[in-house]
Amino acid sequence: MTAPKKLFIKTYGCQMNVYDSERMSEALGEQGYVETKSADDADMILLNTCHIREKAAEKVYSELGRFKGLKTKKPDLKIGVAGCVAQAEGQEIMRRQPLVDLVVGPQSYHRLPEMEAKAGQGTKVLDTDFPEEDKFEKLKRRPKAKRGPSAFLTVQEGCDKFCAFCVVPYTRGAEVSRPVDRILRETQDLVERGVREITLLGQNVNAYHGEGLDGNDWTLAQLIWELDKVDGLERIRFTTSHPNDMQDDLIEAHGNCKKLMPYLHLPVQAGSDRILKRMNRSHTAESYLRVVERIRAARPDLLLSGDFIVGFPEETEEDFQATLDLVEEVRYGTAYSFKYSTRPGTPAAERAQVDPAEADDRLRRLQALLTKQQREIQDSMVGREVGVLFEKEGRLPGQMVGKSEYLHSVHVANSDHLEIGTLARVRIVSSVTNSLAGELISE
Ligand code: 5AD
Ligand code: SF4
Repeated sequence: MTAPKKLFIKTYGCQMNVYDSERMSEALGEQGYVETKSADDADMILLNTCHIREKAAEKVYSELGRFKGLKTKKPDLKIGVAGCVAQAEGQEIMRRQPLVDLVVGPQSYHRLPEMEAKAGQGTKVLDTDFPEEDKFEKLKRRPKAKRGPSAFLTVQEGCDKFCAFCVVPYTRGAEVSRPVDRILRETQDLVERGVREITLLGQNVNAYHGEGLDGNDWTLAQLIWELDKVDGLERIRFTTSHPNDMQDDLIEAHGNCKKLMPYLHLPVQAGSDRILKRMNRSHTAESYLRVVERIRAARPDLLLSGDFIVGFPEETEEDFQATLDLVEEVRYGTAYSFKYSTRPGTPAAERAQVDPAEADDRLRRLQALLTKQQREIQDSMVGREVGVLFEKEGRLPGQMVGKSEYLHSVHVANSDHLEIGTLARVRIVSSVTNSLAGELISE
């Protein structure tokens, strides 16, 4: 028997890429590849890339440059670029970096095995089609190997919203939802492999409208209720949502579906109506706040998370102040904030840019406020009882680490008699910078 070939995959960007990397690794597994943690001993290196901000895209080129020595030592080494940079700049990558053997976009990676075979014969291959066929239908059923208790599952891809700053509608294409029966089967397979928690993924996951079990289009809430019936599945999450697609049935599910966790990532991007309009967000600060109010009425302990962009073209100090005001009003448990990054081909790229030093200063001020809120909410967990799904051993002897319902990382001493994948009740005893410490209540 020949030794397995080794595959090194490096994943950038969002959780969707994490899911895609797993599927790519599984597809290449059929070609005899097993994953390795080091690029040095790989037979194939695959960078699964992100194009959302300029820095993310530039990282790809600098990383590729670093593989030059490896390729000289091992001329058979294959180097591939996948993901959104591949989609947006495939030709450019091939031109700028001759080391690259194959380029594959996010909608065509089911063709990776054939592409790998061609690359093995010395042909360079590029596939950034948006093919007619659905990659999920073409990919083989997932293997049975045991895996960690928490998994991502892509249920929807693409975006039709066209926010003025965003490349996603161009790199991932139009909104497409997977049918409920396929998602159900994949969930059952994951549960058999040890999964207890799934996070349903989509660029606009709450706009989900896949074919339901009765042949009609189902909403995300209907999908969640179907998954709620799966024995052995304990927790359901979903991300990322648009405020305009928070329908009544989804808000209600937050109130009465026990497996749906009290955590919601609901990006607003900015607090000024003028800027929201220029961003083409199709909602106002007030309509966002009303959605938040309704969700909190259904589930008062829900922890909210958000995304923010500062320094969007034409943003004034007054506009920025409106973002700070909105943050004060909402109180976020976690948040991601970014300085606006010009993306070629998007409408905002043509507009008057904010002075970079001013944008840096706004980012610093916003992050100071968000960090303070995050810490206050985390500290308020002390003394409370939470459920923890254990994911791995901690750094200290006897300690295990898991996530609470609210997605806080929780360390528990003297818990190593519990198996990974156990869901236990824990009392929170202290809060440190980025995690909580707790004690087991029952098993
Ligand atoms: N510049 C900065 N941040 C951006 N995002 C999307 N596009 C850009 C851009 N051009 C942020 C948004 C989005 C998150 C995934 O990335 O906040 O919600
Ligand atoms: Fe990008 Fe807006 Fe679509 Fe989100 S909703 S993926 S920010 S275009």
